[in-house]
Amino acid sequence: MEHFLISLLILFLFFLSLTFFILFHKHKSLFSYPNVPPGAIGFPILGESLEFLSTGWKGHPEKFIFDRLNKYKSDVFKTSIVGVPAAIFCGPACNKFLFSNENKLVTSWWPDSVNKIFPSSTQTNSKEEAKKLKKFLPQFLKPEALQRYIGIMDELAQRHFASFWENREEVLVFPLAKRFTFSLACRLFVSVDDEIQVERLSRPFEQIVAGIISLPIDLPGTPFNRAIKASNFIRKELVAIVRQRKWVLAEGKASPTQDILSHMLLTCDENGFYMNESDIADKILGLLIGGHDTTSVACTFILKFLAELPHVYDGVYAEQMEIAKAKAPGEALKWEDINKMKYSWNVACEVLRIASPVQGAFREALNDFVFNGFYIPKGWKLYWSANGTHKNPEYFPEPYKFEPARFEGNGPLPYTYVPFGGGPRMCPGKEYAKLEILVFMHNLVKRFKWAKLLEKENIIVDPLPIPQKGLPVRLFPRQPLSL
Ligand code: HEM
Repeated sequence: MEHFLISLLILFLFFLSLTFFILFHKHKSLFSYPNVPPGAIGFPILGESLEFLSTGWKGHPEKFIFDRLNKYKSDVFKTSIVGVPAAIFCGPACNKFLFSNENKLVTSWWPDSVNKIFPSSTQTNSKEEAKKLKKFLPQFLKPEALQRYIGIMDELAQRHFASFWENREEVLVFPLAKRFTFSLACRLFVSVDDEIQVERLSRPFEQIVAGIISLPIDLPGTPFNRAIKASNFIRKELVAIVRQRKWVLAEGKASPTQDILSHMLLTCDENGFYMNESDIADKILGLLIGGHDTTSVACTFILKFLAELPHVYDGVYAEQMEIAKAKAPGEALKWEDINKMKYSWNVACEVLRIASPVQGAFREALNDFVFNGFYIPKGWKLYWSANGTHKNPEYFPEPYKFEPARFEGNGPLPYTYVPFGGGPRMCPGKEYAKLEILVFMHNLVKRFKWAKLLEKENIIVDPLPIPQKGLPVRLFPRQPLSL
């Protein structure tokens, strides 16, 4: 019996070693091309994912990048993250190369887990989907189109501050910022204004975001499984909203320009085809996901930096009060007011540089090509990194110093400041985000000064940067002017 057990153990160890050997061999073979960029490939499947993720969990995702840039003395290095061979591209020349070769040498790529949660959304790497979206979005999201929504943004911001900030001594900033940006997205994308309905939609969104960053294990009860279910639930809700809007539009009781949903329903492609209901629901889901967590992170970090840097707060306050004082009581913000918020926008830009909501994104090599003398094989995943330039003293001297003046005059060098990416895949929501952030800042500083309740709150980047405890602050109300 004893011999039998020992033989069984030896056999088990033999198969285990064989499996490891095959895995290692396969893993190595994925990288065995001549003249690929320098770098390490780590263990099979895991690669260097743990180091990549853990630097983010510790609040310094740039450490993964800069450790390797220093080690390999090259702006491009190979690695293996999210289970695939990849090359990280850093610096303005690399950004320019990736951004200007979209659909020529590279195309947008998302891990399979993301594609499972959004089966046919904007987040897929399908060129057709992206093309469809590109056609619709600018009409709704270009500055001229957004002008008519400033009044609504201002009204919603006023309502938000009255309901959740005023008459409170302390608040938790991050959840409130999310509430604001999500309510605004619901109102401007699909005209959902009712608090209860917004709340009903917001919970599954939390589950989707949690699922995107979880292990892609689709078993009952896992965050990934909950995210897929939540995404299906929201899609159904959105399809119902789309159907109802079709009726209301047909009866002439809704405006064709009231929100992006009306635009999508009434816009056809060059062949005269309209998008079907579930296609529209998918697009709106992508917009709601892309459009609210990013801006809420930006708003949260604005509060963090303004609390830490009183002279920056004073500058923003002075600018916003000049605008507020020139308005009649109850008069909403207008496009001209937004154009006067130059210093506030420089402050917001500096926040987006130091605490970029999006750390970077993947592309996939469509063909073999050579860049900087290195061979990049077809199918490799390529990652551009915002921190690769934002935190590099070569492009932003004293990169950890908060300095809004960096954005005065001509501002940063081309392709060094990339919080919204670049090229054809550049964030289509950039102008929307700008308006939303400035309207938020205006309504915030007009009402309050604040102080952080935790002197040293850790930042976790997973995958968006967030103060670990949600940024609790004490509020000091300002004398009301003409709110
Ligand atoms: C501060 C706020 C925001 C930041 C920092 C941000 C950042 C980004 C970045 C870096 C990308 C490009 C990713 C890539 O290169 O593949 C992107 C794409 C995208 N963003 Fe934003 N974003 C913000 C707000 C918004 C808003 C408000 C919306 C919607 C109204 C939005 C919708 C989208 C969509 C749909 C895409 C995908 C575009 C495509 O694949 O062609 N974003 N965003």
